[in-house]
Amino acid sequence: MTKALVLGGATGLLGQALMRVLQAHGWQAEALGRADGNLLELDFLEEQFSQRKPDVVFNTVAWTQVDDAEDHAEEALLFNRTLPDALARLLARQEKGFLVHYSTDFVFSGKHTTAWKEDDTPTPASVYGSTKLAGEEAVLSALPDRACVVRTAWLFGPGRRNFVDVILAACHKRDAISVVHDQYGSPTYSLDLAQWSLALAEQRVTGIWHAVNSGQASWCELAAEAIALNSGPCRLEPITSEQWPQKAVRPKFSVLDNSKLAALLGKNPRPWAQALREYLFSEYAAQNGAVTQ
Ligand SMILES: NC(=O)c1ccc[n+]([C@@H]2O[C@H](COP(=O)([O-])OP(=O)(O)OC[C@H]3O[C@@H](n4cnc5c(N)ncnc54)[C@H](OP(=O)(O)O)[C@@H]3O)[C@@H](O)[C@H]2O)c1
Repeated sequence: MTKALVLGGATGLLGQALMRVLQAHGWQAEALGRADGNLLELDFLEEQFSQRKPDVVFNTVAWTQVDDAEDHAEEALLFNRTLPDALARLLARQEKGFLVHYSTDFVFSGKHTTAWKEDDTPTPASVYGSTKLAGEEAVLSALPDRACVVRTAWLFGPGRRNFVDVILAACHKRDAISVVHDQYGSPTYSLDLAQWSLALAEQRVTGIWHAVNSGQASWCELAAEAIALNSGPCRLEPITSEQWPQKAVRPKFSVLDNSKLAALLGKNPRPWAQALREYLFSEYAAQNGAVTQ
């Protein structure tokens, strides 16, 4: 039985999805998070690795608060670069152990109108994006033959509050909400990402992989689809990024090209709207009450 250690597996959006999918596929998956100890202490990590002897480590732990990172650059760097660097170095000292590390579409910025490929040059515009890029580089340089970096984007799914949940909750309270329409990305279902992660880990692929559902959307389009499916009587007002000032600069276009993943899977990842429907009609409905189909 393959043994997995999932950092963030007890509480994270992706971590929880991974635990479910790995266990459903017969893996022995254990979670590791802040409730177990200080993940930034090398001795603690070393002890955890030698006790649990994982075949695959999935690192979903990160400083994910994009705006907060602007004011907490050092802490963001600790979780987004120092931690993955330590994980990769620890595994490099051992005979076995593969690392799947997650990164973000926010490593990209600037003018682009076609989906970003794995070998496009990243130019992060935020502290979050820069620290995540530094984490990618650290992992691939410390453990090039036994690690992959999986860039994903705009996650929704069960287990932790996400953009779709926030929009639908706001719609239940208000008659109208405003959502940015001039930033485009790749909405992605955490449970789909967990399935692809399993395939990537099973094949022990190395290097960088873009793992997102197919298609693209603006935040406003994602919100509109969720509201339409949730059948709430809520008016949606498209606004520009300038009308919704945020501390961290977001890319205007961070759609990821998933054709490398599609070739490995032998099929295109399903469109984000189809995955969103499944989320809302099953997982979200179970947590929040039925959504009418
Ligand atoms: N969510 C997205 O839309 C998105 C988009 C692109 C890339 N990604 C990447 O995908 C990966 C997973 O993201 P996610 O959405 O699943 O993240 P998440 O739900 O925010 O979970 C992050 C995990 O990191 C842990 N963590 C954060 N700060 C910590 C600290 N100071 N000490 C110990 N643990 C800490 C959290 O633990 P607690 O629950 O205890 O806080 C949680 O388990 C990350 O690498 C992220 O950069 C996510």
